[in-house]
Amino acid sequence: MTRAAVLAGVGATVPPRVVTNDELARRLDTSDEWIRTRTGIVQRHVIDPGMTTGDLAVEAGQRALKSAGTTTVDLVVLATTTPDRPCPATAPSVATRIGLVGVPAFDVAAVCSGFLYALQVGADAIAAGHAERVLVIGAETFSTILDPADRSTAAIFGDGAGAVVLRAGQPDEPGAVRHVQLGSDGSMADLITVRGGGAEERSGGRPPLPEDAYFRMAGKSVFFTAVRRMAESSRTVLERTGWQVTDVDRVVAHQANVRIIHAVAEQLGIPADRAVINIDRVGNTSAASIPLALADGAADGRLTPGDRVLLTAFGGGATWGAATLTWPDVMVG
Ligand code: COA
Repeated sequence: MTRAAVLAGVGATVPPRVVTNDELARRLDTSDEWIRTRTGIVQRHVIDPGMTTGDLAVEAGQRALKSAGTTTVDLVVLATTTPDRPCPATAPSVATRIGLVGVPAFDVAAVCSGFLYALQVGADAIAAGHAERVLVIGAETFSTILDPADRSTAAIFGDGAGAVVLRAGQPDEPGAVRHVQLGSDGSMADLITVRGGGAEERSGGRPPLPEDAYFRMAGKSVFFTAVRRMAESSRTVLERTGWQVTDVDRVVAHQANVRIIHAVAEQLGIPADRAVINIDRVGNTSAASIPLALADGAADGRLTPGDRVLLTAFGGGATWGAATLTWPDVMVG
C-alpha cells in the first residue's frame, strides 16, 4: 500500500501578554465594536520585548513532539514570515534548541499559507521515503513588523506558534494527510507586503524609507480573492480526495477574518458551525494560524478522532492552498 504522512502530534503556544480591543482603542482610532464586527477578533497575544519567533517555535515544537511521544525527527520545516534574522533561516536554531542537532532544517516563506506549504513539504518527504518523522512548525511574531499607527493591520494580527509531527503510515489510517493543493499568483505581491529590508531596497540606490519597514495589507482588495481562492482550492482537494462537501466534518481555515471563514464555508455549502474558530482569542497569526486552531480544536473537543477535516488558507504572495486529513486520536502536547 502507498506510504502516507500521518499526523501523530500537535502542540501550540501563544505569548502570555494579551492585548484586548479596548487596549488598542486607547491608542488608535478604532473600537472594540468595529474590530469584533468586522473581523471577529476580541483579543490577540503579543510577545514581550526580547522574545522572538524562534522562542515560540521551540515551545510549539517541543509540545508537538511530546504529543507524538517522540524526541526525534528526520526533518524540521518552519513556516514563518517573521524569521529571527533575514539570514540565516530560523529553523536550524529552533531544531538545535529542541535537541535536533544535525537534522535538516529550513524555513518556508508563504505568509499566511505557510503552514500548508510546509505541510506539503513534510508529507512529501515522508511519502518519498526520505523521512520517517517530520516536525512542521508555523510560528510568527507579526507584532515586530506591524506599524503601530496603522489601525487596519494592528487590530488584526497577533503572535503565536503551532506545530505538528508527521510520521510514516498508511493513507487509510486516522491522521493521514490525504491531499494537499497549493497555488500562487505573484501579480498580487503588492497587496500584502513588507517593501523594505530585501534586495529590492538595498540595490535601489536610494535611502530606505522608514515606512517600508512595516507590513502593509490592502485588506479590501484581498478579501474577495481570499474567499474565491480558498473555496476553489478546497473544491480541488476535496475532489482529489474523493470527498463530497457533505463528508467534511470540520473546516480549519486560516484565521484571517471570521467573515472570510464563513464566506468560504457558504461558497462550499458547508454549514458555518463546522468551522473551527479561534480568531476571537488569538487574532490572525499568519503561518501559525492553522496549527494553533488544530491544537485548540483538539484540546476543546471540536476535533474528534475520525473527523474528516478540510484545511484551507490564503496569504501574501499571493499564495493559497487546501488540504484534507482525518483527525487522529491525539492528545495536545
Ligand atoms: N478600526 C476602525 N476602522 C477601521 C479599522 C479599524 N481597526 N481598520 C480599517 N478601518 C476603516 C478603514 O479605514 C475604512 O475607512 P474609510 O471607509 O473611511 O476609508 C473602513 O474602516 C472600511 O475599511 P475596509 O478595509 O473596507 O474594511 P473591511 O470591512 O474590508 O475590513 C479587513 C478590513 C482588513 C478586516 C478586511 O478587509 C479583511 O479581513 N481583509 C482580508 C484580509 C486577508 O484575508 N488577508 C490575507 C491573509 S492574512
